Amino acid sequence: MQQQNALFLESKQGQFVVRQRPVPTPGPGQLLVKVYATALNPVDWKIQELGIFVDKFPAILGSDIAGEVVDVGQGVTGFTKGQRVLAHGYLTEDQASFQQYTLTTSTFTAAIPPNLTYNQAATVPLGLDTAAVGLYSEVLGAGLTPPWTEGGQGKYSGKPILVYGGSSSVGCYVIQLARVSGFSPIIAIASRIHEEYLKSLGATHVINRHGERDDLKKAITGTTTAPIEIAYDAVSFPETQQVAFEILAPNGILVTTLQPVVEEDQGKGRKVVATYGSPHHSANNALCQGLWGVLEDWLHRGVIKPGPFEVLPDGLHGIPEGLRKMREDEAGGVKLVAHPQQE
Ligand SMILES: NC(=O)c1ccc[n+]([C@@H]2O[C@H](COP(=O)([O-])OP(=O)(O)OC[C@H]3O[C@@H](n4cnc5c(N)ncnc54)[C@H](OP(=O)(O)O)[C@@H]3O)[C@@H](O)[C@H]2O)c1
Repeated sequence: MQQQNALFLESKQGQFVVRQRPVPTPGPGQLLVKVYATALNPVDWKIQELGIFVDKFPAILGSDIAGEVVDVGQGVTGFTKGQRVLAHGYLTEDQASFQQYTLTTSTFTAAIPPNLTYNQAATVPLGLDTAAVGLYSEVLGAGLTPPWTEGGQGKYSGKPILVYGGSSSVGCYVIQLARVSGFSPIIAIASRIHEEYLKSLGATHVINRHGERDDLKKAITGTTTAPIEIAYDAVSFPETQQVAFEILAPNGILVTTLQPVVEEDQGKGRKVVATYGSPHHSANNALCQGLWGVLEDWLHRGVIKPGPFEVLPDGLHGIPEGLRKMREDEAGGVKLVAHPQQE
């Protein structure tokens, strides 16, 4: 059986170790992908540091996959060996991305268009799916009409949306999807340094996140006379959730990426929903299949643009240091990418 290198988290809150494991075989509906680039996400350091989300050890982490198809499972159509693809991985030994070969679910895999590199493609899956589920899921989101379905594109024209943490990986995709959905104004809260970039993605206003709380609220509500009925808090710290909830219009909805700290208030009808961006979750299967169905075209046409990234040194061995940088907030507002094929 062919062997490969993988980065194992040996035990709960334990050490990362690179060692060998067999290359898995694709089952029905799956592809075997040689991983050329994988992006790191906050969940990866949180699993190691806090011992959450994963129960079975040793474990392999990593969700963002970009690579080449080397084998195609039974019943898969539309993919061929040698094709460049991106995919949203799954935190199981065979489907996680911090290894040289992984299995992907064909419905959450898309061809990489010629205008994108592996590095760029690897930055997309988890961030984009989380943005999409939070906006469009009726179960784990605000229940808006997705722009890839009939009547969805431009549907929310003239309605404001607040994107807290607009420069985060998730936030950048929320801004872009909000633009496709027609929202206006799109009010992003971020550090000043990102203003030009976030405006290039579709933000109409970028408010400096480092202001006083009352000034921040005034700046947000000063951008529009229309009620703000949708707020997506991509960073979801207690203080950011509070600000977003306080400016929300009656009957509005706040989407959080972490556990909500604000309580729904029946009087004003405001709701809060914690999203969960995995397409592998049964509640997200159908929604995310719709998104993955248009993804190659959208990336090709620049409807959705990948964000800035930095490539880590030392292949799989460089990932733990990348996770540390992320945890310590030293990633500098870029997605960290590793190359598992690099020895
Ligand atoms: N529920 C889910 O399924 C799911 C999925 C993905 C992520 N998440 C969670 O969502 C959060 C964001 O993930 P991510 O990958 O998008 O993060 P990320 O890209 O690593 O976010 C980093 C950015 O957050 C911004 N930020 C930090 N503190 C802020 C504050 N007080 N106000 C506004 N912006 C602030 C900083 O922006 P500036 O440079 O502008 O200061 C920083 O560049 C994480 O906690 C992650 O674990 C949850």
